[in-house]
Amino acid sequence: MTETYVVLDYRLMIPKPSYIGKVRDVYDLGDSLLLSSSDRISAFDCVFQELIPGKGVILNTISNRWFKSFNSIENHIIETNYLNFPAPFNSIEFKDRATLVKKCKRIDYECVVRGYISGSLWKEYSKFGTLNFIFSKDKYLESDKLSEPMFTPARKNDTGHDENISEKKMKDEIGDDIFNKLKELSFFLYTTAEQKMRNSGIILCDTKFEFGFYNDNIILIDEVLTPDSSRYWSMDEYKTGISPPSFDKQILRNYLETLDWNKEPPTPKLPNDIINKIINKYKEIQEKILSCT
Ligand SMILES: Nc1ncnc2c1ncn2[C@@H]1O[C@H](COP(=O)(O)OP(=O)(O)OP(=O)(O)O)[C@@H](O)[C@H]1O
Ligand SMILES: [Mg+2]
Repeated sequence: MTETYVVLDYRLMIPKPSYIGKVRDVYDLGDSLLLSSSDRISAFDCVFQELIPGKGVILNTISNRWFKSFNSIENHIIETNYLNFPAPFNSIEFKDRATLVKKCKRIDYECVVRGYISGSLWKEYSKFGTLNFIFSKDKYLESDKLSEPMFTPARKNDTGHDENISEKKMKDEIGDDIFNKLKELSFFLYTTAEQKMRNSGIILCDTKFEFGFYNDNIILIDEVLTPDSSRYWSMDEYKTGISPPSFDKQILRNYLETLDWNKEPPTPKLPNDIINKIINKYKEIQEKILSCT
């Protein structure tokens, strides 16, 4: 008697993502979500055609390592081993790049914590002399360490563009109790990570966290302390009065500044040497994070 085997190629059965972010693909599985980090890269709100091979795995690995290191804080992770994902997601293409998480009622604010004055906070301060809408008596140069870390929330709007808001506005919108809890958790996460990274020669300039409600508890969701959600600087390259190169997309941004590109789609083609430099930078920060967490 001959036996017939049917080989299922799960890759053929994978549905389209329910939501495609600039970098991540989100599959809605009912009570859970599968968050899959792609190798896409974006800058100036544009996603490039070229992929950065391995970037998605690095981002997912970094985020999960940080989630795990904060064992006192409840987070959204259900499963990180792709073999235990429900079919058809137990497929090799999700290996190390996807995480199965609890689907939460997202709290629509980015909880940004900054230890240094850079990015949009520097823009605000240099233009208006304010720090998160409050006049500052302290005098700062770009990238200076702040006298103490600041909480500078942003509201996640439906248009896709986050809006920086004052602490007071966020408090008025969500109430004192939730606001205080989110701020306290965010400071704890930032200061713990900042100290750990310092021992590896890295400055954690700023970062953002997201939280959600799960069974009425506030839990940590999304991605945590990745180079996409944080500004990491090497201590060797740190200087005030400039914007030091960051581990996220500085190589890409610097390259783009050499081109005559208006920062609107279509995006310019990325040469291989730039792609390789970007990959190496992501690998470098991964190594540092894995060694200190
Ligand atoms: N546990 C969770 N429950 C509910 N929503 C979550 C959870 N974890 C992450 N999310 C949401 O899933 C989405 C992940 O997609 P992603 O971060 O790639 O896109 P985005 O933030 O909308 O846009 P961008 O591409 O600018 O990051 C985000 O909207 C995030 O807030
Ligand atoms: Mg996001």
